[in-house]
Amino acid sequence: MAAEPQDNTPEPSIAELIAARSHLRMHAMDGLVMEDVPLARIAASAGTPTWAYSAGALRARYNTLAGALRDAGLDAHCHYAVKANDHLAILSLLGKEGAGADVVSEGELLRARAAGIPASRIVYSGVGKSERELRLALSEDIGQINVESAEELRMLSAIATSMGRTARIAPRVNPDVDAGTHEKISTGRARDKFGIPYSEAVALYAEAAGLPGIEPVGLATHIGSQIMDLAPYRAAFAKIADLVRLLRGLGHKVRVVDCGGGLGIPYRNQPGPGPAALAGTIKAAFHNMDVQIALEPGRWLVGPAGVLLASVVLGKQAPGARFVVLDAAMNDLVRPAMYDAWHGIVPVSATDAVAPVSPADVVGPICESGDTFARERLLPDLAPGALVAILDAGAYGSVMSSPYNARPRAAEVLVDGAVWTVIRPRQTHAALWADEVVPG
Ligand code: LLP
Repeated sequence: MAAEPQDNTPEPSIAELIAARSHLRMHAMDGLVMEDVPLARIAASAGTPTWAYSAGALRARYNTLAGALRDAGLDAHCHYAVKANDHLAILSLLGKEGAGADVVSEGELLRARAAGIPASRIVYSGVGKSERELRLALSEDIGQINVESAEELRMLSAIATSMGRTARIAPRVNPDVDAGTHEKISTGRARDKFGIPYSEAVALYAEAAGLPGIEPVGLATHIGSQIMDLAPYRAAFAKIADLVRLLRGLGHKVRVVDCGGGLGIPYRNQPGPGPAALAGTIKAAFHNMDVQIALEPGRWLVGPAGVLLASVVLGKQAPGARFVVLDAAMNDLVRPAMYDAWHGIVPVSATDAVAPVSPADVVGPICESGDTFARERLLPDLAPGALVAILDAGAYGSVMSSPYNARPRAAEVLVDGAVWTVIRPRQTHAALWADEVVPG
């Protein structure tokens, strides 16, 4: 399997990883501190593994992104991609900052509503929305449904008509652009399952304009995730801008362009585009077109704001390898196992953080070799009970966890200044089988 393309950039040191994350700092006595709360204090009280998120970082990141769009002079709305981290506390915090939501299932739609995000600020994406899900979207009268096939468009028209509703839709166009990211999270190539083929977009828009219960409001695209280069965005937006001109030339109204999500984050402190550069690219593609811009950012908003706190169970020496075995595992954070993803791992103790380092494989206790967080990572000797923080775990972390190996779901904590709150207690073992039925 191809590793994430940034894998050949140099590996940052523990000090460099901490220095690049403004909500984290190393305190000589308290160790690694998130905002004003020592992570060791959270671990002592909530146990490990535990996810800890910085509310300050979440707010700052949302405002940086929204500010970059504003500074570029764009009329833009952010719909947070709920899939990245769907905890109600996160949704509600981002909603209060002004974010709408990009949802892909009935569950995500209900979560966004439960967190207080207005229906008018919700966009529904996804390649396989069921009839029941489309009904819910219509009965909630959400802002926009991104349609991914002619089949879905016709089904939606029939449902909307039967309900006496009008669906505001945007065809999600597959621009046939390679986002240059990991194979499993590329979505904008012609062979990917997503979106309407570029060559069919004009005909589909025209069909939509004529269908009862359907109001086409614009176009959408989303080419992939963890994108660290602007070139694929530029290529995709140019193709979408061409479509806008073509459709308007044919007399269609195109009010909105939804540019999707995908903005990558520097897991390895590597250089990459930030919100200002993305805003500039959007501006360059759509300036003077009088379109309202929508974005669906997930990872960029929440990824760097979270860590997974874990304890060392033991160190193990094998011929040719040193293993650090943690109490966190691939069932908690699956990204390294699933995408060969690189996450920074830093000791929580200030003494550990400056001790001499040597290569170690950082692994979990699950019975699979894939249960490996890092290979040959430069880390100090870590005694049983020592704490580490796995960085940039706020996105696609807790949401992708599973109870594999009968491991309960880890606790989650939100840090806000000097205050921290358990926003999800650790699942109990009994809860693992509470809804199981043994026949007879
Ligand atoms: N919009 C649509 C239609 C999407 O499918 C996605 C992500 C997003 C927005 C948000 O993308 P973001 O800004 O977060 O890159 N589990 C993988 C990532 C899967 C992304 C799926 N779609 C990972 O851990 O890398």
